[in-house]
Amino acid sequence: MSGPEKLKLWGGRFTGTTDPLMQMYNESLSYDKRMYAQDILGSQAYARATCKAGILTDSERDTIIEGLEKVKQEWASNTFVVKPDVDEDIHTANERRLGEIIGTHIAGKLHTGRSRNDQVATDMRLWLRDELAEIEKHLVEFLRATVARASEQIDALMPGYTHVQRAQPIRWSHWLMSHAFEFLADLERLREFKKRVNRSPLGCGALAGNPFNLDREFLAKELGFDGVIPNSLLGVADRDFVTETLQWATLMMNHVSRWSEDLIIYSTAEFGFVTLADAYSTGSSLMPQKKNSDSLELLRGKSGRVFGQMAGFLYTVKGLPSSYNKDLQEDKEPLFDCVTTVKNSIQIATGVVSTLNIHPEKMKAALTMDMLATDLADYLVRKGVPFRETHHISGSCVREAEVRGLSGIDQLGLETLQKIDKRFEADVLQVFDFERSVELRQSTGGTCKASVLKQIEEATNLLQ
Ligand code: ARG
Repeated sequence: MSGPEKLKLWGGRFTGTTDPLMQMYNESLSYDKRMYAQDILGSQAYARATCKAGILTDSERDTIIEGLEKVKQEWASNTFVVKPDVDEDIHTANERRLGEIIGTHIAGKLHTGRSRNDQVATDMRLWLRDELAEIEKHLVEFLRATVARASEQIDALMPGYTHVQRAQPIRWSHWLMSHAFEFLADLERLREFKKRVNRSPLGCGALAGNPFNLDREFLAKELGFDGVIPNSLLGVADRDFVTETLQWATLMMNHVSRWSEDLIIYSTAEFGFVTLADAYSTGSSLMPQKKNSDSLELLRGKSGRVFGQMAGFLYTVKGLPSSYNKDLQEDKEPLFDCVTTVKNSIQIATGVVSTLNIHPEKMKAALTMDMLATDLADYLVRKGVPFRETHHISGSCVREAEVRGLSGIDQLGLETLQKIDKRFEADVLQVFDFERSVELRQSTGGTCKASVLKQIEEATNLLQ
């Protein structure tokens, strides 16, 4: 045996050379180097555990830990020199370099009882754990910004829509809070599943477990895990933490997308309810007048990307035989890309919501009297008329106003209203008031001021 095969960490039983395309096809270092710090952290803890198990002497342990520290510094300072022939992934690259720094006699003892199978699963969980903590922080910031705006702009009224048709007047803050509660559920889900991420597979070995009496609980504690995966076959195979993250992100980005869609519509000239800050808009290369809400369109677009990664990964793991299979190497790119996308998206959304301007006069101008047709029906309900009947009567009023070419049902006048139904009295004119309509919605969750303030308070408490 000669050439690079001899150097490969698994090269012992191989005599031929690897097809260069296969080499490229097989490598994961180009992307799994993102976990270099976690790989080293895991190896340092592993050195402590194997020392405790009597495999390494104290001095060998310390030499390994210090050597790994140097490897880490090389990555951090961008001076780590990759050897493409032999460095297949971050695990082999770090061990190869450690051998060069401290000598292969000691470095060669580090991997005792360990496999890249438990190693890679450990690295990923460590990496993801930190990333999820950051995502959580960003999500809380987004929610705080949303709630602050809802509280500040509580007085702005706007049309509420169903089927994108004007339906009933609502508070702008009511709209904001509807999304806040959706994102609060995302926060809750994140806090729930992250505890399943933080479990240690280290010490599971290739699949069957560790034969050197390794203290897995000690290892888990050293690495800040909340416990160990209780079965070694599962420990090396379990990627549910990846799936859960992708599924969580899919739902969260779906919420981001729908939120964006509303704001895209609200920012058009036709609506004019909001204007995005320049920091989150771009112009057209052709049409000088254009100000496009690219930030929101990208947020909407990137949700599809995350959904695709989730679906793709589920296809990858579906039907895999037990324990480790190389297919699992395909877990990293979707996960990394998803985490980056989600992290950036939440921050962009926070930027958008904290800097946009609203135009309450435009919102108000978009309110039309026909949006009070339900209130007109409700007026008669309060006089004891069954709703099914009042719905019909109010509908007749809307039709009559249309036939007469009036701007709204408020223009019909008391006399005409009474001609349509004699139970209309002088106080019916009070119905034609948007503020009144909004303030009547007092039940929990409604759009009246007190209710929206209560929602704000509830959300604020959940964010403490
Ligand atoms: N690069 C591999 C991965 O990401 C590491 C584990 C390799 N294990 C093996 N038995 N070939 O999954």
